[in-house]
Amino acid sequence: MGWNSWNKFGCHVNEALIRSAADQMVASGMNTVGYQYVVIDDCWHGERDAHGNIQPDPKLFPTGIKALADYVHSRGLKFGIYTDAGTKTCAGRPGSRGHEFQDAQQYAAWGVDYLKEDWCNTGTQNAEASYATMHEALVAAGRPIVFSICEWGTAKPYLWGNQVGGNLWRTTGDIADKFQGKDDYRFGMIDIVDQNADLYSYAGPGHWNDPDMLQIGNGGMSPVEYHTHFSLWAMMAAPLIAGNDLSSMSDDTKAILLNKEVIAIDQDPLGEAGRRVWRSGNLEVWSRNLSGGYRAVVLLNRGATAQNITVHWSDISYPDSLNAQIRDLWKAKDLGSSKGSFTAEVASHGVVMLTVKP
Ligand code: GLA
Repeated sequence: MGWNSWNKFGCHVNEALIRSAADQMVASGMNTVGYQYVVIDDCWHGERDAHGNIQPDPKLFPTGIKALADYVHSRGLKFGIYTDAGTKTCAGRPGSRGHEFQDAQQYAAWGVDYLKEDWCNTGTQNAEASYATMHEALVAAGRPIVFSICEWGTAKPYLWGNQVGGNLWRTTGDIADKFQGKDDYRFGMIDIVDQNADLYSYAGPGHWNDPDMLQIGNGGMSPVEYHTHFSLWAMMAAPLIAGNDLSSMSDDTKAILLNKEVIAIDQDPLGEAGRRVWRSGNLEVWSRNLSGGYRAVVLLNRGATAQNITVHWSDISYPDSLNAQIRDLWKAKDLGSSKGSFTAEVASHGVVMLTVKP
């Protein structure tokens, strides 16, 4: 769990922004509910020096990356950075191709705790081999660094990401700040869900499917749709990397990003990703097995009008004779017990998120 600069700020990064994000992560209380990593995405780089060492852009990061990492650490948080497996990053900054060991040593010396490695400008490079090289470089550098593989799913990183030391791997292209449909090169939130949904069996403790960072609070979706976004990321056991401006969060945005009960589903120690267990047209039921032996359930309505959706216990591998306790997580309300099934009205583009306990 953390924050990354890309979704809101794109290439407009500088050290004041990153320091402020760390400050806001603490001021908002995000750190107390589990957000930890403050990650600078693309565009922090300057040119390599005469020895090939990577440097930050001196105008944007005048006091340097080590001082910035120290500052983030002083706030009790962890610090992440971005590179690319090819010759250049997606925004045209120097990539790590051929410099992996040198770069990993530099990151470790700066105090980096998290590395996202992108996949632009990689030509005919083999993805598995390229990420394996960076992983070996990180191991050789001797500092524990979370390794985020950002290959967009093309070479099926869920099949090899764990073996090459990946802690998370993107399974999709980039997420747009909209419910559905392509926007330029990016995919709507629900399209991303469809691309990631069937990969649940590859996720597990320490190695997760990454359906991209959160758009919650960036303004392109309704509050109902942002609740759906967060609920489905929690069901998919996805990394929760906020991508909004933390200095101007609405109450709605805070209520979503800081909801402890939904975060607890995402972070459930069993680490078993949820799956879609029923679908009919625009209506879906999702279920996730939790460490306490019970289920998280999401009733999802992708359609344009409110609809009733029913979860049958037989769809979540409970006997229909079972009398189960129902809790609505977004309402933070116990709804009593229900035998065999539970039905709720679900808003257009919305969810009802429950726990179902024997
Ligand atoms: C790619 C990645 C994004 C972001 C940008 C930066 O599109 O998928 O997450 O890192 O590059 O240029």
